[in-house]
Amino acid sequence: MKILVTGGAGYIGSHTVDKLLQMGLDVVVVDNLATGHKSSVPEDVPFYEIDIRDQVALSNVFDEHNIDAVVHFAAKSLVNESMNKPLDYFDNNTYGMISLLEVMNKYNVKKIVFSSSASTYGIPKNIPVKEEDEQNPINPYGLTKLQMEQIMHWADLAYDIKGVALRYFNVAGAKIDGSIGEDHNPETHLVPNILLAAQGKKDKIIIFGNDYNTPDGFNVRDYVHVVDLANAHYLAINYLMNENSSNYFNLGSKIGFSVKQMVDAAILETGIDIPNEIGPRRAGDPDSLVADSTKAQNILGWKPELTDVKTIIQTAWNWMQKHPDGYGDK
Ligand code: UFG
Repeated sequence: MKILVTGGAGYIGSHTVDKLLQMGLDVVVVDNLATGHKSSVPEDVPFYEIDIRDQVALSNVFDEHNIDAVVHFAAKSLVNESMNKPLDYFDNNTYGMISLLEVMNKYNVKKIVFSSSASTYGIPKNIPVKEEDEQNPINPYGLTKLQMEQIMHWADLAYDIKGVALRYFNVAGAKIDGSIGEDHNPETHLVPNILLAAQGKKDKIIIFGNDYNTPDGFNVRDYVHVVDLANAHYLAINYLMNENSSNYFNLGSKIGFSVKQMVDAAILETGIDIPNEIGPRRAGDPDSLVADSTKAQNILGWKPELTDVKTIIQTAWNWMQKHPDGYGDK
C-alpha cells in the first residue's frame, strides 16, 4: 500500500512517515518546506518539494506513483499568525484542501486522513470535549480546519472520497531515540520553549497569564505524545481501508496539565532551575482544552502509551540535546 503524506517533512508529519515505514507501508512525501525540514525525511523516501496548491506539480506525483491513500498535514498551524494573516490561512489551508481533493478525485484516490485540530471547538462548553460538541472556532486557524473538515464531508457525498479527521489537542515530545523532533522557527509552543529556556537559548519562559478559571489559575491543556499521535494516523488508514467510511476523532489523553505544572515537570526532569516569569494573557487562549478520546480508543483501537508528561518532556529534551540546532537548515 502506498501512502502520500503531504507536509511529511513537518513535526507531526515526519513522525507519522516514520511510523508508516515501520508498519511496512510505502510512503511518498510532498512538502513545500515552508516550515518542514527535508532532512527529517529518510533519504530513500521519494520526496517532492512542491506546494499542494500547484495542481500540475501535484498531478505529476500522482502520475509517478500509484497512491492508495493520502495523509494530509500540509497546512499553516499558528493561532497568533492566523489572526494577523487570515487570508494566508484561507489560501494555504482551505484552498490547499480543495486543490488536493480535486487532484485526488482526478486520480480516483478516495481515501484521506486529515490533521484537524482541537481549535475547531473554540471555547468548549464541556470539559473533556467530545466529538459531538459544538465546533465554534475563535480564530482563523481553527476556522480553516473546520472548513477543511466540512469540505471533506461534501467531497464524500459528491465524489465518495472517504475521510477521517483527527482533531489533535496539544502535541509534544519526540521519537524515543531522538533522531527526529520538533524544530520550528520561530518556536511558539510551550514544551520546546520551556526547554529552550533550560538550554539557555531563551532568557526565560513567559507563562501567559495566571488568572484563568482553572484550579491553579494557569491555562490547562491536554498534552499528547507525537509518537502516539503518529500511531493514530496508521490506525485511521486501516479504518478507512476496512470500513470505507468517513469519521472524526479527538486525540488527547483526557488529562489536563496547567502551564505551571508543565514548567515544574520540566524543572524536575532536566534538573535545571528553568527561569520563568508570569506575563500577560495571550489572545485567543481558552481556559481549558482537554479531550475525551474514548471514541478513538473504541473505534480505531487507539491506545496512547506515552501519556506520562514526564515521558513527553524527557523525549523532547533528548531530541534537543542531541540536536542543539534542530535540523540546522533554518
Ligand atoms: N504558553 C505559555 N508560554 C509560551 C507558550 C505557550 O504560557 O511561551 C501557554 C499557552 O498560553 C497555552 C499553552 O502554553 O496555554 C500551550 O500553548 P501552545 O502554543 O504550545 O499550544 P496552543 O494550545 O496554542 O495550540 C496547540 C496547537 C494548535 C492546536 C491547539 C489545540 O498549536 O494547533 O494546540 O489545543 F489547535
